[in-house]
Amino acid sequence: MRTLDDLDVKGRRVLVRADLNVPLDGETITDDGRIRASVPTIRALAGRGAKVIVCAHLGRPKGQVKPEFSLRPVARRLGELLGQDVAFATDVAGPSARSTVEELQEGQVALLENLRYEPGEESKDDATREAFAAELAGLAELYVGDGFGAVHRKHASVYDVPRLLPHAAGGLVVAEVEVLRRLTEATERPYVVVLGGAKVSDKLGVIANLLTKVDRLLIGGGMAYTFLKAQGYEVGGSLLQDDQLDQVRGFLNEAAKRGVDLVLPVDVLAATHFAEDAPYDVVEADAIPADRQGLDIGPRTRELFASKLADARTVFWNGPMGVFEFDEFAGGTRAVAEALIGSEAFTVVGGGDSAAAVRKLGLPEDGFSHISTGGGASLEYLEGKTLPGLAALED
Ligand code: 3PG
Ligand code: MG
Repeated sequence: MRTLDDLDVKGRRVLVRADLNVPLDGETITDDGRIRASVPTIRALAGRGAKVIVCAHLGRPKGQVKPEFSLRPVARRLGELLGQDVAFATDVAGPSARSTVEELQEGQVALLENLRYEPGEESKDDATREAFAAELAGLAELYVGDGFGAVHRKHASVYDVPRLLPHAAGGLVVAEVEVLRRLTEATERPYVVVLGGAKVSDKLGVIANLLTKVDRLLIGGGMAYTFLKAQGYEVGGSLLQDDQLDQVRGFLNEAAKRGVDLVLPVDVLAATHFAEDAPYDVVEADAIPADRQGLDIGPRTRELFASKLADARTVFWNGPMGVFEFDEFAGGTRAVAEALIGSEAFTVVGGGDSAAAVRKLGLPEDGFSHISTGGGASLEYLEGKTLPGLAALED
């Protein structure tokens, strides 16, 4: 991949695809990690005299202009972090975008409105996507791909635009790929992966691939209940994907056959209902009462997971262990994070929710070797898939 150093950007219009998809509460950004991660590349380009045009998506407005998905609050925050004004275009590639770009001086930065307001951005029809890509490309002379969190999407701004303009990978994409490469090539052992999050169906591909690579696979979070059920346990009202039971039984067999230590919760916090203040008991994982639901891993599981991480040399963690948004049910996620912070291993936190959890729990970000900005993207990379946004940058 070409990098920023390979581009002569002075005085030129450079379109930067960033991932600025941050959680919002109204217009308040509740976690600005992805904006901060995007700053170095934008600053470097501006510092070299480029006219920087940033494009990004927010949420899933599905091709419609919906004000609650506007990037305007993000432009403000980006400006604060850069320490310079960020001009904001109120459309993506229309009259506002064109005049905003025209007014840009060397070293100045503009942000375009949410790419996903345009149906062409995500269209499955190549011609529709390419037509929109041509409009976007028309705003600029060069392209920098730096939206690591979106490189697994075959979208116009990610996949088609770099085929129309001279391009390079931004610093964030380069750094993320370097880390993921370390997780897939000549990995130091023991290699332990911790997976959580709500749905096992989101992780099927990565589990199948990891079972051929890791020494231990620790499973917590909502997806663990489908594994417990597959072992014949009752899970009460816990999250369950009935249609995945066969798949999961296959994983349990495969792990046993390959000698992978697949570790499941041994106890859980079983709550009466899904709420911050719901009463709960610690129960054995094989004895969840029918009228209860598991909202976090229990204390014995936290110790078990920590012991399985203690001698690891490489760790990848994706997905919370429980409903960390509720203080009462954040303990399992905190325990895993703390085990990683205390570890000598090369530790990588993958993705949106787990990265946000680390920050929400007030844990030191520098306690980890790397916190990725891409959840789906890092999982698909580890799954061994070709990521369209990386393939386009490599060409
Ligand atoms: C993310 O939040 O994972 C990335 O920004 C990609 O967003 P998407 O999952 O809506 O494509
Ligand atoms: Mg996502």
